[in-house]
Amino acid sequence: NEGALWGARFATGPSPELAALSRSTHFDWDLALYDIAGSHAHAKALAAAGYLTADEEAAMHAGLDTLARGIVDGTLLPGPNDEDVHGALEQALIVTVGPELGGKLRAGRSRNDQIATLVRMYLLDHSRTVARDILRVVDALVAQAEAHPEAIMPGRTHLQHAQPVLLAHHLQAHAWPLVRDLERFRDWSARAAVSPYGGGALAGSTLGLDPQLIARELGMDRPAENSLDGTSARDVVAEFAFITAMIAVDISRFAEEIILWNTREFGFVTLDDGYSTGSSIMPQKKNPDIAELARGKAGRLIGNLTGLLSTLKGLPLAYNRDLQEDKEPVFDSVRTLELVLPAFAGMVATLRFDTARMAQLAPQGFSLATDVAEWLVKRGVPFRDAHEISGSLVKLCEQRGLELDQVTDEMLASVSSHLSPDVRHVLTIEGSVASRDGVGGTAPVRVAEQRAELISRVQAA
Ligand code: ARG
Repeated sequence: NEGALWGARFATGPSPELAALSRSTHFDWDLALYDIAGSHAHAKALAAAGYLTADEEAAMHAGLDTLARGIVDGTLLPGPNDEDVHGALEQALIVTVGPELGGKLRAGRSRNDQIATLVRMYLLDHSRTVARDILRVVDALVAQAEAHPEAIMPGRTHLQHAQPVLLAHHLQAHAWPLVRDLERFRDWSARAAVSPYGGGALAGSTLGLDPQLIARELGMDRPAENSLDGTSARDVVAEFAFITAMIAVDISRFAEEIILWNTREFGFVTLDDGYSTGSSIMPQKKNPDIAELARGKAGRLIGNLTGLLSTLKGLPLAYNRDLQEDKEPVFDSVRTLELVLPAFAGMVATLRFDTARMAQLAPQGFSLATDVAEWLVKRGVPFRDAHEISGSLVKLCEQRGLELDQVTDEMLASVSSHLSPDVRHVLTIEGSVASRDGVGGTAPVRVAEQRAELISRVQAA
């Protein structure tokens, strides 16, 4: 078992089948630079505790720097016999600085506390790149809202026409969940920035190494309070998987609407040519593939979360090899979002809205019936009665094939003596949205205020 991290107590090396099953370099090599950072910090702790002379420490850092350059330029890669990133890098260090010095670095640490720390470092870094990509989507939504401050569309519940709303209000409603996702990352990072390094295999080490020093060097807030927990807990990884799945679901809900809006039946949006695709057989086609891929990939991120939780659920303390299965799902979720979010942001930024069509459809389907009922309430009619009166007016319109704003004074009077002709003042979509002027409502003045609040929350996140 030449060059491996273990072997002396074995009569033979690992079988090829075991080696194939055990190997993780094809995915954990993504952690190589974090492993090097951990080794730099660990070398400092060894030197501080008197296990490395100043010269040895300097040679160790220089050797690790050489490895880092090799990782970055692609000349250093794991070999076919390396089990994992940790073993591969120890081997490379030994080749670089010699077996005497290279063999000293492993003292007082285990791959268990290493990997638990490295995955946190990876996730903290990528939470920042994913957050930047979310910002691009939020920026695109805010820009579209700003470009259409007064446009009115049919607001829906149950996918049925419900009440008219501002397009900007609707777009901003898709931005808020993304703002909360940014805030989730911020809250999560306080739990993630804790370093298990120094926990060893499970119980800590006898060498008196300073875990505070290592935590500080790695940009973490503090060392883990409990070495068993630090080396074997993965709730921080699962929480990250949840946040990424939530982001994907939030994006997917908007994607679904863009797909609907882009149909001939809705006709609310036109996609930019650069952000849509064609068909290999139907020459006329222009498809919303970005939105569909975003919607589809949400399923994949949900799978990554549930797969990870399933891996964790029966594990006794402390480290078990099952925990090696924590990385691929979150690496995949990160890579997927890093592909989806920029494309989605570009598609949103370049959407063209048919605001005339939206405005034309907004009053249809009796979407101003609530306005009639509330108009009656303002005139002292109890809401239960007002609801009945407005409902009867809808019924009459439906029987005659009319919209609410097409009824005559006689028809109004025939439904209720309360329905005087000036009810018509509330039977416009502009009047309807403008009058919903409470906090969080769809009146243009409130929606503009809301946008300012949205922007300041994004800046604070
Ligand atoms: N590759 C492992 C992981 O990803 C870390 C190595 C721990 N191996 C061990 N036999 N204790 O979790």
